Amino acid sequence: MKTLIKNGTVVTAGDTFKADVLIEDEKISLIGNALSADGAEVIDASGLFLMPGGIDAHTHLDMPFGGTTTADDFFTGQRAAAFGGTTTHVDFALQQKGETLIQGIDMWKKRAEGNAVIDYGFHIAITDPGEDMVSQIESLPAAGVTSIKLFLQYKGLFMVDDETLLKAMQAAKKAGVLVMTHCENGDVTDIITKQLVSEGKTDVKYHLEAHPREIEADGTSKVVAFAGVTGCKLYVVHMTCKEALHELSLGRAAGYKVMGETCTQYMFKFEDDMRVPGYEGAKWACGPPVRTPKDAEYIWKSLTDTTLQFVATDHCSFDFEGGKDGKKPGKELGKEGFHKIPNGIPGIEDRMPVMYHNGVNKGRYDINRFVAITATNPAKALGMYPQKGTISVGSDADIVLWDLNKKHTISAETHHMNVDYNAYEGMEVKGWPVRTILRGKSIVVNGEWKQEKGAGQFIKRHEGEFL
Ligand code: URP
Ligand code: ZN
Ligand code: ZN
Repeated sequence: MKTLIKNGTVVTAGDTFKADVLIEDEKISLIGNALSADGAEVIDASGLFLMPGGIDAHTHLDMPFGGTTTADDFFTGQRAAAFGGTTTHVDFALQQKGETLIQGIDMWKKRAEGNAVIDYGFHIAITDPGEDMVSQIESLPAAGVTSIKLFLQYKGLFMVDDETLLKAMQAAKKAGVLVMTHCENGDVTDIITKQLVSEGKTDVKYHLEAHPREIEADGTSKVVAFAGVTGCKLYVVHMTCKEALHELSLGRAAGYKVMGETCTQYMFKFEDDMRVPGYEGAKWACGPPVRTPKDAEYIWKSLTDTTLQFVATDHCSFDFEGGKDGKKPGKELGKEGFHKIPNGIPGIEDRMPVMYHNGVNKGRYDINRFVAITATNPAKALGMYPQKGTISVGSDADIVLWDLNKKHTISAETHHMNVDYNAYEGMEVKGWPVRTILRGKSIVVNGEWKQEKGAGQFIKRHEGEFL
């Protein structure tokens, strides 16, 4: 099966140029001018821009958490991602207590298989630390999993102590595995939360007090120092504030292999959105929490000056009004107290258009940097490059056709995520993915769904690069 995309403008992390792109057997086979169709199906991309399919490095689909399970499973979450121009994501598999890391990965594979509609990989989040866990890290690359997540948060659930953190980083360095960290401090959150609850301070807004920015910075400082000591490659997930970014930049200046990710919501949702009267603010409860517009400006700057390398979503969807009409319980679980709100914000569908419109159209970075932070950099750091994350001969034909003039107003009424609210409700974006192509197959065309359930593939990742 051959497809020729004609007359478009190709955008990569490095270049923007007019070219035709020929696809054969799921791969890009030729890029050039005036290529002949020679029996290929022709897609006319006149006036459109061809960008690599988005790669979301941080998602939680079908994940049990906070007394319920995320609203999106692998089918609904991935389908929504495709509508928004994302063709690959890397989800967090959770090790189960008493089980091995590989068993955790196998369990998440079962959740995806038969449901997947885009390509996917897994990080494994370590929840049962110990000597045995450390020795298992070296077995991961053979399974195509080259990143682990360690939580400094969620005491009694996922949190690891310093001994485990250090030993895991040493083992990861040896095995060529990337360490990803959630930088807060579960002890601090636990103590402050108990104090607040005992004082009857259980409103949504107190979530912010239980997750101070100083503690995110402190956690970041610690993992950066440990990365310096061990020499392992580090990727700090969901960074939110100036203080934490400062710690990351100190590590980068010192020559440590440390990188940082932010998530779309941290540029658009703020502490004041959580302080509104009533329960509405629970929609934005996540950890680390949303911060301030000033932090958002610092994040935008850090994406441009390369302190930050990645924008992901941390897509973790819970209905605002769940638990009825056959829906899973959602954010309403926290009406008893902020500490019971299932943490997380949806966004897997919105990331690409929101970051294009607010980044490129508003002059914060250029279109090539947009491709870098949303596709190429995650592909490189997570060991999928050049199979994914670029438009080059031999790469998977994961291509999104963008109409840079098409406007769209984001709304929960029209989105495809299986969740009853949207973080970007009412935002008008200019620049829209009109066709999403996965390994040569058009899976969304002008808002029409074309993909078969189960056609998404698990991507075996190799050791990633430091960026
Ligand atoms: O609140 C969040 N971020 N939920 C997802 C779990 C995590 O820590 O990434
Ligand atoms: Zn986290
Ligand atoms: Zn997460």
